[in-house]
Amino acid sequence: MKRRTIRFGKAEVALYDSTEELMADAAEELFRTLIEKPKAVLALPTGATFEPFYAYVASNYKERGVSFKDAVAFNIDEYVGLPAGDPESYHTYMRKNLYDKVDMRMENALLPDGNARDLDEETRRYENAIMSQGGIDLEYLGIGVNGHIGFNEPGTPFSSRTHVVELAASTQKANSMYFLGRHTPKRAITLGIGTLMEARRVILMATGERKRDIIGRMLKSGKTERIPASALADNGNAKILIDSGATPPGL
Ligand code: GLP
Repeated sequence: MKRRTIRFGKAEVALYDSTEELMADAAEELFRTLIEKPKAVLALPTGATFEPFYAYVASNYKERGVSFKDAVAFNIDEYVGLPAGDPESYHTYMRKNLYDKVDMRMENALLPDGNARDLDEETRRYENAIMSQGGIDLEYLGIGVNGHIGFNEPGTPFSSRTHVVELAASTQKANSMYFLGRHTPKRAITLGIGTLMEARRVILMATGERKRDIIGRMLKSGKTERIPASALADNGNAKILIDSGATPPGL
């Protein structure tokens, strides 16, 4: 059962007892969007939080009468320097967790090219591609343990557009569990916070105890560029979904 709803500035915060119910509600938003607008433009994240979400979506979309065949999906970020086919690239993650399991057309599944010769040009091309699709209808976000959204690290201006980022040491450490015995990427391309906040609907999901501390700090601090996810406080189109593991004490 959904526990209760509070506010974080203009954003709504839903606190869940069960992670499964959080995933089901989050997926419902996607199903509803695709039913209302089959050509919806999506922005999608990667990460451990979203593995059960994509699994739920893939297992239930057909039954809900939903199709991805006319949808367009942008990814929020991608590592610099990994070939698209690398097992740890976000290209591979998206195929494995979602696109190979639903009726998405791969020409409509768009990710930044972390191997582009001119990375700055690639960030401009990617940003323009979003604009030429009419902007993002529905966007999902995870949150890093340091409060990052996409790969926008603490201190990134809230007005930032798609850019190349040097990953924080804590982010490299968090990512290193995926790169056992290999060099962990130090740079990435990410949609900027300004770009992310223009989506017509934003859903941030935080699950598990690993996220409790940063969620507590974010809710307490209000809007500050030291915690990139706190940009949502100013976003009336945003909803933050938190499971019991990630719920700070006292809430
Ligand atoms: C990663 C990704 C983000 C993701 C976040 C949390 O580094 N770039 O898009 O939302 O960090 O990841 P996880 O869900 O694995 O904790």
